[in-house]
Amino acid sequence: MKIAVLPGDGIGPEITAQAVRVLQALNLGLEMTTAPVGGAGYDASGDPLPAQTLAVCEASRAILFGSVGGPQYDTLPRASRPEQGLLRLRKHFDLYANLRPALVYPELAHASSLKPELVANLDLLIIRELTSDIYFGQPRGVRTTESGEREGFDTMRYTESEIRRIAITAFETARKRGRKVCSVDKANVLETTQFWRDVVTEVHKDYPDIELSHMYVDNAAMQLVRNPRQFDVMVTGNMFGDILSDEASMLTGSIGMLPSASLNAKGFGLYEPIHGSAPDIAGKGVANPLATILSAAMLLRHSLGLEDPARRIESAVRQVLAQGYRTPDIQEPGCKPVGTVAMGDAVLAALG
Ligand code: IPM
Ligand code: MG
Repeated sequence: MKIAVLPGDGIGPEITAQAVRVLQALNLGLEMTTAPVGGAGYDASGDPLPAQTLAVCEASRAILFGSVGGPQYDTLPRASRPEQGLLRLRKHFDLYANLRPALVYPELAHASSLKPELVANLDLLIIRELTSDIYFGQPRGVRTTESGEREGFDTMRYTESEIRRIAITAFETARKRGRKVCSVDKANVLETTQFWRDVVTEVHKDYPDIELSHMYVDNAAMQLVRNPRQFDVMVTGNMFGDILSDEASMLTGSIGMLPSASLNAKGFGLYEPIHGSAPDIAGKGVANPLATILSAAMLLRHSLGLEDPARRIESAVRQVLAQGYRTPDIQEPGCKPVGTVAMGDAVLAALG
């Protein structure tokens, strides 16, 4: 079973190294190949997604991804920027279903920016469509209008089949959880998202056992910080999902805790922490590797069908939190402060 490991930039290499150690410790016979992506890809071969890296991914069952981006790349032309490596991978492998769970571990409820009683036992899953919307719509660019003024423009668009398949993912996933789906849109203003609402409603006819609600994105942003436990599964488009999933991450205490899976119809997936490359702490050995370690668990579950080892990782993470190990992002008085590698050590020890 071949796995492509793409550490990327910033803290990416440090955190993926810990996830790789955890995967190796499970002795599953995984064959892991590391390749550069993002700024590292650009530095290595002038392309944020080098052909060689894409070939490694093609030959693999799944991708374990770190993070991309850094200030040194911000002035490059868009096509050369690190983020393009990630966006091209999503598009190339048709990774349309992005699962972003926001789980509050009891030990970390105090670290949430909300009152602990509002987030205790929160278990929310954001399902973000990942290969369409204004992220990929054409035309886009900057042009000069007839009056000689410059204008920037992007295109928001969704086809019926794109909405249909992500709605199916949401309903099927809800069936294995709390049986509630909230579809988030801006149907009061945007044509594309009125169409989104209509198609989600049509698909829902096949899922009478699931409770479907619709919410405007501005209200959803508010409800997430007012009463997040009203949600089970949230399904939304690429742009709104990007924003709401960062917001949801803060409910859990630290963005350093949240894994994600980006899947295509064949179960091939890219697994990454939802946080970025954190250039400010890169190389200092203090980044929280748990989001990436939990992403490795999702990889085992969703792409390799290895439920038991996935659970072993997840319970090891629960155990190290209960034991009081804390990286700086989740620090609290009386805890055991650790850095990236020591947190990896603790997880390995908890695996037994
Ligand atoms: C995310 C990130 C990416 C996105 C960036 C790095 C392109 O913010 O995965 O949420 O906008 O999708
Ligand atoms: Mg984002």
